[in-house]
Amino acid sequence: HWTAEEKQLITSVWSKVNVEECGAEALARLLIVYPWTQRFFASFGNLSSPTAITGNPRVRAHGRKVLTSFGEAVKNLDNIKSTYSKLSELHCDKLHVDPENFRLLGDILIIVLASHFARDFTPACQFAWQKLVGVVAHALARKYH
Ligand code: HEM
Repeated sequence: HWTAEEKQLITSVWSKVNVEECGAEALARLLIVYPWTQRFFASFGNLSSPTAITGNPRVRAHGRKVLTSFGEAVKNLDNIKSTYSKLSELHCDKLHVDPENFRLLGDILIIVLASHFARDFTPACQFAWQKLVGVVAHALARKYH
């Protein structure tokens, strides 16, 4: 369900993404803008203020891990559901993350990409990425029942 142009827009942006920087920034923004998400990361230590969150090394490391995993979706655009089937089980059965939060993180990732790539993140790019984060959120939510 991807056009050749969408695939091209997604992979060309992805090839320029600094996974460590953007991953850390996206997760930190999630924790700051939607503070209830902090509850899942209580073991990460000090999350008491925006500066504490952005400077927290475990937030950075986990943000990188999450965005690296997002890269699996980019590499497997036609197979996103099966790519995330194990992760869906983890987030559903073990972590009990409300799937609404996948959508929030996806939207934040778009904001981070737009702020890093500025004019290169064209409306067409945003459209393709918006579709991608929706498919990823859907795939991660699949094992909920
Ligand atoms: C763990 C990916 C969204 C909470 C993980 C792991 C990955 C991952 C790859 C590590 C799994 C492992 O160690 O085997 C993703 C992706 C997301 C996403 C691709 C969406 C695009 C979320 C959201 C939350 C969340 C929105 C909560 C608000 C967690 C927690 C862990 C985890 C609590 C375990 C952290 C730890 O203690 O190490 N996720 N995640 N995830 N994720 Fe997600």
